[in-house]
Amino acid sequence: MKRTLLLALILFTAATAVAAVAETDNNLTSRQPLLSTAVDESDLLPPDAALSDSDGGFPSMDSMLHWAISHSDPEKLKESAQSHQKLSPSELQKRQLEIKEIMEKTKMLSDAELMKIAIKDLNNASTSLEDRYRALLELLELVEPLDNANDLNKLGGLHAVTQELKHYDSGIRATAAWVLGKASQNNPTFQQQVLELGVLSRLIAMVKSSSIEEGIKALYAVSALTRNNLANQELFYAEGGGLMLQDILRNASIDIKLRRKAVLLLTDLADYQLENVNKDEPPFFNNQDLLKSVVDLTASTDLDLQEKALVAIKSLLQLRTTKARVFRDLCALGDALNRTKELLHDLMADEDQRDYVMDVENVRIEVESIYHRKLENQ
Ligand SMILES: *[C@@H]1O[C@H](CO)[C@@H](O)[C@H](O)[C@H]1NC(C)=O
Ligand SMILES: *[C@@H]1O[C@H](CO)[C@@H](O)[C@H](O)[C@H]1NC(C)=O
Ligand SMILES: *[C@@H]1O[C@H](CO)[C@@H](O)[C@H](O)[C@H]1NC(C)=O
Ligand SMILES: *[C@@H]1O[C@H](CO)[C@@H](O)[C@H](O)[C@H]1NC(C)=O
Repeated sequence: MKRTLLLALILFTAATAVAAVAETDNNLTSRQPLLSTAVDESDLLPPDAALSDSDGGFPSMDSMLHWAISHSDPEKLKESAQSHQKLSPSELQKRQLEIKEIMEKTKMLSDAELMKIAIKDLNNASTSLEDRYRALLELLELVEPLDNANDLNKLGGLHAVTQELKHYDSGIRATAAWVLGKASQNNPTFQQQVLELGVLSRLIAMVKSSSIEEGIKALYAVSALTRNNLANQELFYAEGGGLMLQDILRNASIDIKLRRKAVLLLTDLADYQLENVNKDEPPFFNNQDLLKSVVDLTASTDLDLQEKALVAIKSLLQLRTTKARVFRDLCALGDALNRTKELLHDLMADEDQRDYVMDVENVRIEVESIYHRKLENQ
């Protein structure tokens, strides 16, 4: 059974469905909608969507349901409870039956048919905001298999989703970027299709959105589109993607999740060059400010960011065009590595994170040895 259906149903009939679940749950709450039907962006996207390096989907139906129930703050509940009429028991029962019917029906639809329905909703200007979310989230699940992702364009869905990047609601824009990113994962065909639509510059601009969620999803899409794809990488550099990355890396006020993702993207881009030594290295990697920003990240108090920065430095050091003396004189990499060593040493006192800190220290040692080799060879 596709969890996309349940997801759709929960969001589609969020108020009733959740209320119904809650009610059977030992009468914990009164019979009022738990979630406002006017879903706003922060309600819709899981709050820790990008905490991990994944794109942050719902791992299971249970967790999704749990999220839906738990992610409603009491104040909002009260407000929405006041603004919504109570459903009578018979109304509730009717809704539950309807949900059951829809589930029976949708079970028989193919993925392509489901995609067509979602695309039709997106193309319909009268579709409400929440139905638009529902349609995008449904596509998000549906495009996961490669074949479906490739069908999306044939069905007109790529154009429809791309249009949503211009929507006035930042949550819709974020979800549309998420769909494009998800469908681009390890999918050269789809990457190429998106390239032809010319939306990369739009996504790069979205990374700087005042909505963190939008920025994170846009950066996720940019990363998925450029991964192992030279044409998209060239476009990325041409469209100012390098500058965008640099702005994120050197600005400590920017959201930590976004900064972690930015370092990962930088590593990805450098690794692509390492794996394709016959390709020219773009001048981007020789930008001294960029290299310094990355080295400075090793002083971050966030161990995860620190580790990601070390991994990035490791790749950057191995590029042909980067200069050892730039790392030494301008970035003070030697100092940074010594400082990191001390810091990690202190952290090892903490039993709970010792294993992790050891891993980071091992990366640091590797960086140090690559750095010294580079110094000797240049
Ligand atoms: C369920 O909630 C209703 C209304 O809030 C209340 O009157 C009733 O006693 C509750 N039932 C149980 C089993 O807690
Ligand atoms: C567009 O959406 C509106 C509102 O949901 C609906 O009434 C209408 O039938 C839809 N139009 C088409 C062509 O599906
Ligand atoms: C750093 O980021 C913050 C938050 O996004 C922004 O307000 C500020 O202008 C940025 N600073 C610089 C120097 O770009
Ligand atoms: C880093 O530490 C090593 C070993 O203590 C020392 O030899 C070296 O001079 C230090 N490097 C810098 C740049 O401080």
